[in-house]
Amino acid sequence: MPADSRKTILITGASSGLGEEMARQFAALGHDLALCARRTDRLETLRSQLLARHPSQRFEVRALDVNDHEQVFEVFGAFKDDFGTIDRVVVNAGLGKGAPIGTGRFDANKETAITNFIGALAQTEAAMEIFREQDAGHLVMISSMSAMRGMPRTATTYAATKAGVAHLAEGLRAELMGSPIKVSVIYPGYIRSEMNERVKNAPFIVGTEKGVRAIVEAVEKEKPRAHVPAWPWVPVGAAMRHLPLPLVRRLLG
Ligand SMILES: NC(=O)c1ccc[n+]([C@@H]2O[C@H](COP(=O)([O-])OP(=O)(O)OC[C@H]3O[C@@H](n4cnc5c(N)ncnc54)[C@H](OP(=O)(O)O)[C@@H]3O)[C@@H](O)[C@H]2O)c1
Repeated sequence: MPADSRKTILITGASSGLGEEMARQFAALGHDLALCARRTDRLETLRSQLLARHPSQRFEVRALDVNDHEQVFEVFGAFKDDFGTIDRVVVNAGLGKGAPIGTGRFDANKETAITNFIGALAQTEAAMEIFREQDAGHLVMISSMSAMRGMPRTATTYAATKAGVAHLAEGLRAELMGSPIKVSVIYPGYIRSEMNERVKNAPFIVGTEKGVRAIVEAVEKEKPRAHVPAWPWVPVGAAMRHLPLPLVRRLLG
C-alpha cells in the first residue's frame, strides 16, 4: 500500500463480531490498528494472528470499558501517543440487551442506553479532541438499520440509542462540512455476530465476513451515510422511513 494511504485506525469493540472482522479486513488493506474492548485475551489472540499475517504492520491492543468514561479518554490518548496520529476512529462497541419497556427490566434497557449512547458520546468526544488537534481524521459511527424508525418490544431502547448516535454524527458532519475532518454513519442490517447468535428470525441476515466487507468498502470511501449491505437495506431503509408504522412492523416480522 502507498505510504500516504496507510492509515492508523482505532476500533472499539474489536474483541468479537463486526469489530474483530473489521480489524481483519482493515489489516488486509495494509492499515495499522489500535484495538480495544474489555476481553483482552481475545484482543491478544487477534493481535498475534494479525501480526503473523501482516508482519510489517503495527497492531496495538488495550483494555477498555466504554462505560468507564475517564478510561475512554486515557485509552484513546495512549493510542495517539503510540502511533503519533490516529487517522480514523470506528465507534463500534455496543450491546443489544433490551426488554419491552415497562416490564420490569429497566436495568437491561439502562445498560443498553448507557453503553450505546453515553459510551458512544464519550468515544466521540475523545476522538474529536484528537481530530481537532490534528485538524484531520475520520469518525465512523456504527449505527443500525433499526435507527430508521421506532422499533417494538426488545428493540425499542436499542433502536433509540442507534438513532441517537446517528444524530450525534450527523450533527458533527453539519458542523465540519468543508473541513478536513470527515464523518461517516454506517447503518448495518443484520450481520451474524455474538450479539445475534441466538436470534433465529433475523430478516436478510448475512455472514460476518460479507456484511463487514460492505462496511469496510463504505468506510474506505468515506461515505457520509451507508446502509449495508446495500442490497436489500437501501430499499428496505427507504421503506422503513416512509411507510406507515403498521406496515413497517409487518415488513420486519
Ligand atoms: N450484528 C448486527 O447485526 C448489527 C447490526 C447493526 C448494528 N450493529 C452494531 O455493531 C456493533 C458491534 O456489534 P456486533 O454485532 O459485532 O456484536 P458483538 O459480537 O456482541 O460485539 C460487540 C463488541 O462490543 C464490545 N463491547 C460491548 N460492551 C462494551 C463495553 N462496555 N466496553 C467496551 N466494549 C464493549 C464487545 O467487547 P467486550 O465484551 O470484550 O468488551 C464486543 O467486542 C454494535 O454497536 C452493534 O449495535 C450490529
